[in-house]
Amino acid sequence: MYIIGGTASDKIAKDISIRLDVPLAETISKRFPDDEFYVRINDDISGEHAVIVQTTYPDHNIIELFILQNAAKEAGAKKITIVIPYFGYARQDTKFKDGEPISAKALAELISINADKVITVDPHKEYIIDFFKTSAVSCSAISEIAKYLKEKDIDMILAPDKGAINRVKKASRIIGCDFDYMEKTRINGETIEIKPKKLNAKNKNVAIVDDIISTGGTMAKSIQELKKNGAKNVFVACTHGLFAGDAIKKLNSAGCDEIISTDSVQNKFSKVKIAPCITPLIK
Ligand code: R5P
Repeated sequence: MYIIGGTASDKIAKDISIRLDVPLAETISKRFPDDEFYVRINDDISGEHAVIVQTTYPDHNIIELFILQNAAKEAGAKKITIVIPYFGYARQDTKFKDGEPISAKALAELISINADKVITVDPHKEYIIDFFKTSAVSCSAISEIAKYLKEKDIDMILAPDKGAINRVKKASRIIGCDFDYMEKTRINGETIEIKPKKLNAKNKNVAIVDDIISTGGTMAKSIQELKKNGAKNVFVACTHGLFAGDAIKKLNSAGCDEIISTDSVQNKFSKVKIAPCITPLIK
């Protein structure tokens, strides 16, 4: 077996190779003058199980994944497993309006072409893994996030909407704290409404946990509600930290005390490693 890291997920690939005690393939990656991507796998992976690790966000990382898959196939890998720490486009998982694509399905079908197995982490909706035309499984980073939060003296953990309640319920058991949810309505891609909910947050350390932070709108509104309810410290945590546009500014202005994400999308808030969730699925 060889672990092959794409440039979006090279650190996770290294973590996986250490945890599984299998070699990390040496690769050369560069961009041509016109910005097209070039990759070469230097190790001989012929007849080997190749495990390619690459987040499909932002867009250029998708092309890189396709090219790596092809390189592994051309090199004669006997089995190709694709680990997608953050599966981009997952939120367009249905046709909300006529004429729209199901982007998650389009991407899943293309990735399936050169893949014997796909592993992803906290997909936006669990049914997305059925879009792959090959064997696909998912794992959750919530236990690793909960272990990090356990050190922060958290009194209550919250889901920003009722749909995410199971995730926080699981975390609350690990942390040993209360759990609850906020009442969220999405007006459009940029605007959400959090209905005031009487939360018992006075003088408490509260963590809000979501699968994705994109524009930060959901979390910012939730933080404001909690602060209105007298919360002492508010931590926001997510599996996939995209932090689009001025998301960080929004979170800080809302009074956020700490931002936490995993390394599924590498950024300065990647405080939680996801390799421990992924490795059992590779074995
Ligand atoms: C939505 O269903 C997701 O779970 C997240 O709540 C959402 O993607 C967060 O987006 P934003 O940060 O733009 O509010």
